Amino acid sequence: MEFIDLKAQYAALREPINARIQKVLDHGQFIMGPEVRELEERLAAYTGSKHCITVASGTEALLIALMALDLKPGDEVITPPFTFVATAEVIVLLGAKPVFVDVEPDTCNIDPAKIEAAITPRTKAIMPVSLYGQVADMDEINAIAARHGLPVIEDAAQSFGAAYKGRMSCNLSTIGCTSFFPSKPLGCYGDGGAIFTNDDALAKAMREIRVHGQEKRYYHTRIGVGGRMDTLQCAIVLAKLDRFEWEVSRRHVVGARYTKLLGAIPGVQTPTVRPDRTSVYAQYTVQVPDRAEFVKALNARGVPTAVHYPVPLNRQPAYAHLCCPDCTPVSAQLAERVVSLPMHPDMDEATQDQIVAAVRESLQAGIPAY
Ligand SMILES: Cc1ncc(COP(=O)(O)O)c(C=O)c1O
Repeated sequence: MEFIDLKAQYAALREPINARIQKVLDHGQFIMGPEVRELEERLAAYTGSKHCITVASGTEALLIALMALDLKPGDEVITPPFTFVATAEVIVLLGAKPVFVDVEPDTCNIDPAKIEAAITPRTKAIMPVSLYGQVADMDEINAIAARHGLPVIEDAAQSFGAAYKGRMSCNLSTIGCTSFFPSKPLGCYGDGGAIFTNDDALAKAMREIRVHGQEKRYYHTRIGVGGRMDTLQCAIVLAKLDRFEWEVSRRHVVGARYTKLLGAIPGVQTPTVRPDRTSVYAQYTVQVPDRAEFVKALNARGVPTAVHYPVPLNRQPAYAHLCCPDCTPVSAQLAERVVSLPMHPDMDEATQDQIVAAVRESLQAGIPAY
């Protein structure tokens, strides 16, 4: 059983993907070829953003966004500790400090009620994460940011394709950043990412930063990075876009079916999706009281699992000095309880039934109900 079945996706898209790759091999413009701009136009239209800038990865997207906002050593950025490390890593790389604000226990996204107390004169941005494929409370976060004159960067690495009050993830704040890591809802076959904004000046800055801060060839107006996305990877995403709407709708169906079937099993807490938004279920993540035993029992029944994430960032050795390790108790508890089940658009009902049965048996195999 596959945790994410990229082989089934490729089987369905073999011809368009191969044709797109062949076209790039034939024209030979491997860096900044025509597919780069074509993809940027398609993604901007999809999200409704004025600008899309493709970049080398989701991490690079976050870094370039913060560089465009002119983040400086000593500045602070408010972000959750219950996320993939890249969210905070880019802040520290620029000499700034992540200020960790705890998450909600049901959605696992940053708790907007706790943000305002963390704002100081050094705060330069708020960076919520749309975790597991569900957008954070962007309206509340944007309202707080507006009161304090702060930009908001949505780390939408896991939520491309998710809707929030009828608008699309990545186009909900000052800047939205996503990832095309192969296992993401929209993935390429290597590393890739994109940045979205409606702000012309920020878009110009981010386009320049992506290519070593150059305004035109060999004229460098600012410090930048080598942060382009390869033409080949853009071509692969373009081919995958033709199936993406179908995949998103399948993600909704598979996720809702999981929630219905698992919801009937005592001892497993299914993910909460707020009624005003959708999740693309980059991960289908449940909570259980005794994860180690549960994972062992599930794996023994042939069901692969993953833990997103086992240690909050403020308890990681590289970050612990930046925040007290006990300041975010919800994140600490989630890190002990969360476990992700196989999730992909090509999952059939028989496979899902097998997983649900294995969950039921694994919980009955000695896990105390809570
Ligand atoms: C929440 C989050 N932020 C940032 C990233 C970084 O994206 P990438 O792996 O494309 O650099 C990821 C990817 O795993 C992620 O899940």
